[in-house]
Amino acid sequence: MRSYEAYGFVNTKAMYERALAGHYAVPGYNFNTLEQVQAIVQACIDTCSPVLLQYFVLPEEQLHPALVLGLVRGAAEMAAGRIDVAFHLDHGSSFEQCKACIDGGYSSVMIDGSQLPHADNVAMTREVVSYAHDRGVTVEGELGGIAGRETADGPMEEHYTKPDEVEDFVAATGVDSLAVSVGTVHGASKNLAKPGQTPPPLRLDILEEVKRRLPGLPVVLHGASAIPQEHVRAVNAHGGSLTRAVGIPDDQIRAAIAINVCKVNIHSDTQIAMTGAVRTHLVACPGDFDPRTYLDSARKVLVALYSDKNRRVLGSAGKASTVPP
Ligand code: 13P
Repeated sequence: MRSYEAYGFVNTKAMYERALAGHYAVPGYNFNTLEQVQAIVQACIDTCSPVLLQYFVLPEEQLHPALVLGLVRGAAEMAAGRIDVAFHLDHGSSFEQCKACIDGGYSSVMIDGSQLPHADNVAMTREVVSYAHDRGVTVEGELGGIAGRETADGPMEEHYTKPDEVEDFVAATGVDSLAVSVGTVHGASKNLAKPGQTPPPLRLDILEEVKRRLPGLPVVLHGASAIPQEHVRAVNAHGGSLTRAVGIPDDQIRAAIAINVCKVNIHSDTQIAMTGAVRTHLVACPGDFDPRTYLDSARKVLVALYSDKNRRVLGSAGKASTVPP
């Protein structure tokens, strides 16, 4: 048995095949806290949705890898026999990091060499794929830079994925899925246009061209949070200051899914919702000093957010393979 199977995780292969065939996207939800993990699993069980529990590695003193594994193993146990759960490394930065994660029980890893020279991205990604595939772990690569984390200043268009590089990259590396840059942005402010200017719509034509060249390739959207304004208002009405918090409209995400996107990464939405809920609670109950109650209000808001995303935007509700037909 593969090490991740012993923990109850699946890799992304069948998940993505079903999503591509069914024109929906599996959620890639990032977590950093117990409440987020609880809410993700609860919402995905409630909506019968498969899910990738995604972790971007933090320094050990912030969150020890053993604690991360404990959290997600608990999640897999909660979900056992009900929904498929993949445990995914988000934005792996080196072969060594991916190897450690694979050895430690991840069922899927991303290796992000998008900021390296093309040949170096190919070489590092190929090395990770070779190690991962020998152990049944699936790999996400990246071509193009997604603003907010990976790109320096300069016009966003310069960082968009070039479809004519995709075929060679996929053939040379053997990746199972590919993160692309089509105008999404990591973080709470997706509008990189100057104030007063309209942000450009996503470059769906790039997705169309990638699909034309590689129809079966599972494509991944990063930086896809919608930044719901009700949660931004909850933050700002209770002592916070989030300015220029603008997301990607739901209909653009749906249009991307209708072409070839089969995993959508969401983190900022949940960070803002959680912050808004905690701020609202603490202002309403200034004498409350008990994390169990203020974090519980955050957990409830998160369950609603993830469930809504699965049902209304990603179309993943009801698609858990273990659910009887
Ligand atoms: P958001 O910042 O839009 O939530 O994107 C998260 C992400 O892409 C993690 O890899």
